[in-house]
Amino acid sequence: MIFHHQSSLQSELQKNRVQNRTVGFVPTMGALHEGHLALVKKALSENQITVVSIFVNPTQFDNAGDLEKYPRTLKTDAQLLKKLDDKILVYAPNPGDLYGDNVVSKKYSFGGLEHQMEGEFRTGHFDGVGTVVNLLFRAVRPDKAYFGEKDFQQLQIIKKLVSIEKLPIEIIGCPIYREKHGLAMSSRNKRLSKVQFEEAKIICETLKWAQSNFSEKSIGELQKHVSQTFQQNPHLKLEYFEIANIDNLRPARRKRKGNTYRAFIAAYAGEVRLIDNMALN
Ligand code: PAF
Repeated sequence: MIFHHQSSLQSELQKNRVQNRTVGFVPTMGALHEGHLALVKKALSENQITVVSIFVNPTQFDNAGDLEKYPRTLKTDAQLLKKLDDKILVYAPNPGDLYGDNVVSKKYSFGGLEHQMEGEFRTGHFDGVGTVVNLLFRAVRPDKAYFGEKDFQQLQIIKKLVSIEKLPIEIIGCPIYREKHGLAMSSRNKRLSKVQFEEAKIICETLKWAQSNFSEKSIGELQKHVSQTFQQNPHLKLEYFEIANIDNLRPARRKRKGNTYRAFIAAYAGEVRLIDNMALN
């Protein structure tokens, strides 16, 4: 069932809430792939009602071209979800239904998590994400919400958001889904040419290399190798490669005992920006 207005979604949800049914929620921007469907399957298995939102959120894009070109495939998405389970509630609003007349971001402070990596390279991105996820959470009022680890920084920020906004929602992170050759699944992959799609596997290969060499090499050596690898590939342009402590996401310059690290990459294949990350220890 597709709802374009939160009022009708809420009356449907209310019928279920009076029967104490738990609500699982998967927020998406659509162009659904296997990674999204895995989140939806997990939500279906852990809750009596599952809501999936499909909304390309304008306030989290700092680049008008990227927003315009973001794939929009509502009909196919709805069919994919129906195939999984025909009781899934799909919320596909227009901006006004979520934001009212003022489609702008609220300003958040996520304890510094918002300044690194994606926050540094995409101005205002996490204010936009925080704003829309807060609005979606208030519209759906789920018990649990599911997010992919491909956007690991976003996942950590959303955990912080529920504590800032005092929302009683359990945030569940789910593993990255990959194409056969390793590229992390993303709605943006649809925009890659055949060659770009093939070459983009170096993102994941590089992360795997960093993972296997993490114990022997210094962070400086790992960074040097990664930047040289990208320089040799004419199809991909590295924006950043960072190794960060997962608790504060601050880029690490030296390894410290007892800390848990992850490697993060953002790179362009032509105009398409791709991100990925991997646990290192
Ligand atoms: O990860 C996404 O697709 C988006 O950032 C989200 C969480 C749906 C908010 O627009």
